[in-house]
Amino acid sequence: MNGPRKLYVKSFGCQMNVYDSRRMADVLAPHGYVETAAAETADLVILNTCHIREKAAEKVYSELGRVRRMKEAAAAQGRRLVIAVAGCVAQAEGKEIIRRAPAVDLVFGPQNYHRLPDLLARAERDGKAVDTEFPIDDKFDHLAAPDRAAIRARGVSTFVTVQEGCDKFCTFCVVPYTRGAEISRPVQKVLAEVEHLAEAGVREVTLIGQNVNAYHGEGPDGRPWPLARLLERVARVDGIDRLRYTTSHPRDMDDALIAVHRDLPQLMPQLHLPVQSGSDRILAAMNRRHSRADYLDVVARLRDARPDLALTSDFIVGFPGETEADFAATLDLVDAIGLSGAFSFKYSPRPGTPGAEMDDQVAEDVKSQRLQRLQETIDRNQAAFNRRCLHRTFDVLFERPGRHRGQLVGRSPYLQPVQVDAPVSLIGEIAAVTVTEIASNSLFGALVQAQQPPVSALLSAGA
Ligand code: 5AD
Ligand code: SF4
Repeated sequence: MNGPRKLYVKSFGCQMNVYDSRRMADVLAPHGYVETAAAETADLVILNTCHIREKAAEKVYSELGRVRRMKEAAAAQGRRLVIAVAGCVAQAEGKEIIRRAPAVDLVFGPQNYHRLPDLLARAERDGKAVDTEFPIDDKFDHLAAPDRAAIRARGVSTFVTVQEGCDKFCTFCVVPYTRGAEISRPVQKVLAEVEHLAEAGVREVTLIGQNVNAYHGEGPDGRPWPLARLLERVARVDGIDRLRYTTSHPRDMDDALIAVHRDLPQLMPQLHLPVQSGSDRILAAMNRRHSRADYLDVVARLRDARPDLALTSDFIVGFPGETEADFAATLDLVDAIGLSGAFSFKYSPRPGTPGAEMDDQVAEDVKSQRLQRLQETIDRNQAAFNRRCLHRTFDVLFERPGRHRGQLVGRSPYLQPVQVDAPVSLIGEIAAVTVTEIASNSLFGALVQAQQPPVSALLSAGA
């Protein structure tokens, strides 16, 4: 009787949310929902939100204003548009969201989306539904697997969540509160998901978790497996040519994990390893439980295992009590590591975290000025890394059409996007590319032509 219902999911924040958004679409597909890219035509709009910084959370409310106007326009045409808020803002604020934005019908946390069909029915029956409990059952046990067409549409490189939550309690961070305690998915469940993706044509998998290198999922032998062992096993899945993992904590970079960077050819030579600050005083106040020297030591051991490893990191400027000398130590650390890129943020006090209660909050203009200086240093590091890639040849995994006709965009082993003139048939393929040009930190490359057979051979072959 009913045609398919249209679903629009918008992700904010981290890769974990991108993954969760896809899984929400998977949960709803058997209930007749198909994804649309046009929010205004949707029957259900889900905003999958991020709470990590105040700016990220505020974006949700401005987006909700837009969606509310769409809902009113739909109602004027006799159509019902259901608005759902998911993710970490939903987890942190719960029904407060409906108080602030009454057009919202549904609020649910990152651990509850497997119950989406029920929640939708509840919202339909009762007007509103809120679910931010941490359930006893594991959502992953209830998620429908995506079909081949959905997997292909999402591309040849994809994320797989293997770990969620965090027990580290860095004093600036809301994650331990919004995503809860650390849990790891069992090895067999991860493998089944990766095999399913590989069968549909996925070539690259990034194992993700808020603290992915703390992974300790149950192995087939009933014992906890560390991430290194999981990576080795996933690398044996037919069709998976490239592996990555993110995001890691420096304290959990153990010897076995460092060794797979040397021993596992599928593991790409790029690692995101947030350090947050270069000052020991600030690292202690952040409760990072590692020093600057510890971090440099891990980096040295990683580079020993994999000399061409590209490192990226996260930084926070203006954490409470950060002096000019502390900040100078951060700038100095960027150069000491030699990063291929980094994310940097102004400290944003998050309600309920210890950092928000600390004295010596840093003035906004000082934060802005430090952020700009840090970004200049990072850009300089990134440019130097990119310059070292000029005229080098490496494998590129082609992901999608590029900016101009006849161009494709692929990823280098170091995660840089590379624009290459190449036929569409190469999407999903890995091919050797020589970097020919670098313009404002974008890489351009040319396919390395396969060796041409001599003309005589072509003639005798009747070509
Ligand atoms: N303020 C600013 N940046 C933050 N991050 C996490 N919490 C905050 C905060 N309160 C940054 C960290 C983390 C990244 C995902 O976001 O650098 O690694
Ligand atoms: Fe947040 Fe990462 Fe620290 Fe955990 S380790 S509290 S996710 S910054």
